Amino acid sequence: MNLPSAEHLHEIFYCSLLAPGESPRTVAGILAQSRQANADKGITGLLIFDGLHFLQQVEGPRDQVQGLMGRITADPRHVGIRVIFEGPLPARRSNVFEMGYSEPDEDDVLYERMVNEGEAGLLRFLAQRPSYDIRR
Ligand SMILES: Cc1cc2nc3c(=O)[nH]c(=O)nc-3n(C[C@H](O)[C@H](O)[C@H](O)COP(=O)(O)O)c2cc1C
Repeated sequence: MNLPSAEHLHEIFYCSLLAPGESPRTVAGILAQSRQANADKGITGLLIFDGLHFLQQVEGPRDQVQGLMGRITADPRHVGIRVIFEGPLPARRSNVFEMGYSEPDEDDVLYERMVNEGEAGLLRFLAQRPSYDIRR
């Protein structure tokens, strides 16, 4: 993987919902599409899906991360995209892009809380990493 220097590293953390009528099976396609594309752009991070909600942190060169976020925002496979935290990053939090699954969580209150927490929500999300079923 091409991991450029730490210059202008940037991260975005957001949540969204699987679009109504969209099969959860579409997520396998997103992962297949993303793994190589992210590696090519020096983007690393973590995408978690629980059957309904997505939570994703992406990090890398600022232009690449913002360009990717533009495409993700326009993607009709999910709705209700809300950026929880965005900012410059002194050093990567991860050296790979990973996708994982978490227990289904119907409780939208948890997502509301995370949206309101900003960076603290991101840190909580990353701290929960051991509980996710990560597929590489
Ligand atoms: C929840 C979600 C997460 C996604 N994550 C990524 C990602 O990390 N990297 C990526 O290249 N595409 C990701 N995609 C797919 C992009 O939205 C988009 O389809 C892809 O960048 C190709 O865009 P293009 O067809 O405009 O070239 C994601 C889509 C969804 C719905």
